[in-house]
Amino acid sequence: MTAREANSPLRLTDAQVEEYRKDGFLRVAAITDDAEIEILRTLVDDLFRRDGSFAAGDRLELGADAAREPLTQVVNPERYAPRLVQGPAYRNARAIARQLLGDGSIPTGHHVILKPARVGGGTPWHQDEAYWDPRYAHRAVSIWIALQPATRENGCMQFLRGSHRGAVLPHELVSPAAHGLRLCGAAPASMEFLCELPAAGASVHDGRTVHGAGANSSGQPRRALVFGFGLAPVLLDTPNNYPWQRPEWSAPANPGN
Ligand code: NI
Repeated sequence: MTAREANSPLRLTDAQVEEYRKDGFLRVAAITDDAEIEILRTLVDDLFRRDGSFAAGDRLELGADAAREPLTQVVNPERYAPRLVQGPAYRNARAIARQLLGDGSIPTGHHVILKPARVGGGTPWHQDEAYWDPRYAHRAVSIWIALQPATRENGCMQFLRGSHRGAVLPHELVSPAAHGLRLCGAAPASMEFLCELPAAGASVHDGRTVHGAGANSSGQPRRALVFGFGLAPVLLDTPNNYPWQRPEWSAPANPGN
């Protein structure tokens, strides 16, 4: 990205929009420049070093075995590090969301994820919508930004192509104590897309796209900054039934994972 481009928000090409509509996800080579990524990575590392002093529910363990395979998430990270949403990365993410969802697109919750070196656990296959309030119809996108290269070895994102066109599938908690969900049963492997990214690269995915990520077997931590945007939810005549949800998730600001 050149300095000139950094001044006006990123705009997807028609071909990229079409690809997103068809696949339910899109790989973006650069959502900001390396200088901002270094700043964002430092802010995120500082957040994960912070002891306590998070609002209730803002720091979560997603893994089934947090002691052996930690997978830590901070929700609403901009409360603690406002600069995360003050630069080109955020402006570009917001512009992408507006392009895909329309001008009614609003922020629906951001989070950061840390997958520590060697022990960071994987994220099982899931749909983000399985976490959301089942009384409403949702239209949302997540923009996942790599704060260092994201590779097969350190647990990059994986998507099931076209899965956003189907229903919300049955999910279950990864363990009774955890806040992570996984699809019940095996996901079809044939449509998997392994989304390796350079630092400052991003992926965009629909709230219903089946996705997951591998464990981190590399010697470096893998961090991601995820911006969530959506249209105002629409109340359904007949609510969905998501028996896997924890009761607290139906609060207005739930973790988008
Ligand atoms: Ni997710």
